Amino acid sequence: MLKIAFAPPAPPAQNALILTVTSGRKLGAQSAKLDHKLGGVIRRALAASHFTGKKEQTLTIMAPAKSRLTRIVLAGLGEPGKIDAVTMQRAGGAALAALGNKETRATFLVDEHKGAALDTAEMAANAALGARLRSYRFDKYRTKLKPDQKPALRTLTMATGDAAGARRVYASLDKIADGVFFARDLVSEPPNLLYPETLAAACLELKRLGVKVEVLDEKQMTRMGMGALLGVAQGSARPPRLVTMAWHGDPGARDKRPVCFAGKGVTFDTGGISIKPAAGMDEMKWDMAGAGAVIGALKAIAGRKAKANVVGVVGLVENMPGGAAQRPGDIVATMSGQTVEVLNTDAEGRLVLADAMWYAQEKFAPRCVIDLATLTGAIIVALGHEYAGVFSNDDKLGDQLLKAGAGVEEKLWRFPLNEAYDKQLDSPVADAKNIGNGREAGSITAAQFLQRFIKKGTPWAHLDIAGMAWAYKDWPVCPKGASAFGVRLLDRFVAENIESNPQSRLREAQSSRGI
Ligand code: BES
Ligand code: MN
Ligand code: ZN
Repeated sequence: MLKIAFAPPAPPAQNALILTVTSGRKLGAQSAKLDHKLGGVIRRALAASHFTGKKEQTLTIMAPAKSRLTRIVLAGLGEPGKIDAVTMQRAGGAALAALGNKETRATFLVDEHKGAALDTAEMAANAALGARLRSYRFDKYRTKLKPDQKPALRTLTMATGDAAGARRVYASLDKIADGVFFARDLVSEPPNLLYPETLAAACLELKRLGVKVEVLDEKQMTRMGMGALLGVAQGSARPPRLVTMAWHGDPGARDKRPVCFAGKGVTFDTGGISIKPAAGMDEMKWDMAGAGAVIGALKAIAGRKAKANVVGVVGLVENMPGGAAQRPGDIVATMSGQTVEVLNTDAEGRLVLADAMWYAQEKFAPRCVIDLATLTGAIIVALGHEYAGVFSNDDKLGDQLLKAGAGVEEKLWRFPLNEAYDKQLDSPVADAKNIGNGREAGSITAAQFLQRFIKKGTPWAHLDIAGMAWAYKDWPVCPKGASAFGVRLLDRFVAENIESNPQSRLREAQSSRGI
């Protein structure tokens, strides 16, 4: 695992060096001095390339023979006045990628740039976070990696004028990265090894951080009347689980009600009897990414000891066809008492969440419910792989989530809810059916279905993350693969809106200044 260290702002004598450059090929003071010492090798390389210091651009220079440095990576930051936390995270991620699999040690010199809008400690800590997030690997089942395929970097030292300050800021960012990595690990696991029981067992790990974890089994769920969740699970040899994770970080809170995060945890979605086509079905191993994000967010929030009360609820099932599987046409009774006609067994996520969210509301009387789910293919048709969809019955909550998402670059786009869509869910034989009429507005009808299981007066938001759970190419702070989309967003939502400690107020002030 990559170790991050902090040191005073002196360029190192050896190993790899990362320098930041702003628009117009502008080096910071330290970098300019170093360039002079190295006989102008950096200026010459700049002149010989199209690298101008734009955001996320990098340029790698092999260090001259007279130095003991190996290579110098220039990382672009763009306009100094627009340098924010995300800029630094992306620069850190891009630089990490540019180092390749050769360097074992590197120093990231966090130079001063005139007019920079972020203080140096924040710059250093966020670049470190970006580098760490980009360094994620899931190699546990690869036994034949060649040396050039294995990550080499052991230590990244952030050289900064405020090492102590940077270390302090980074301490909580590092816990957030722990949550992201945990979620990515869970989402990456293959479905033969990660199924409801093993995923529930993974949640128990959070106990070490002081999270209260409870696991309900089939019998307990039957007693509670969770017919919708159990109906999805009944085709699988793997029994379902429902896990609640409670972090009580603010016992003295004026408003004692916790925030509730709910996650869709379908560990594999074949579609059931309404079976999916073969091509690409393997992707449905990550149909538990909503649950993964909730679990990762709790790890982050508890890890950094957030002064907030937060509960996570995840419904864990495997959706399989088979002799015992539910059929299109079945009618199930949900925990809420409402009955549902299951017309398509592939619209299973909403059935799982209907019972998981009802249970959460009954048990915790939360101040709001935010669910995350890889719920519909239709959201990918609408938004592709850039934004997740957000649906909410509460404009304030919707705005808070949009803002939190923008701050961590997990972008959300608001979709409407409306009675007219809800009507499509009326069934002639039950209280509701689990699909709308045809494919049109499929993400909205799915959200409308969920809303039927939200109690009156409870602010609720639904995040459809189907397009964002998996990175099909490298992203600046996420290598190709499981993204853990939602972990940082939920953590930020809590920091900005629930926590009352000075640190989160500081962060809030910074993001409202657009920093
Ligand atoms: N897990 C899928 C949604 C999904 C599709 C996620 C593609 C990621 C990539 C969900 O359970 C599903 O199958 N939804 C159906 C709903 C339909 C039957 C109303 C869909 O989107 O086709
Ligand atoms: Mn499905
Ligand atoms: Zn699904």
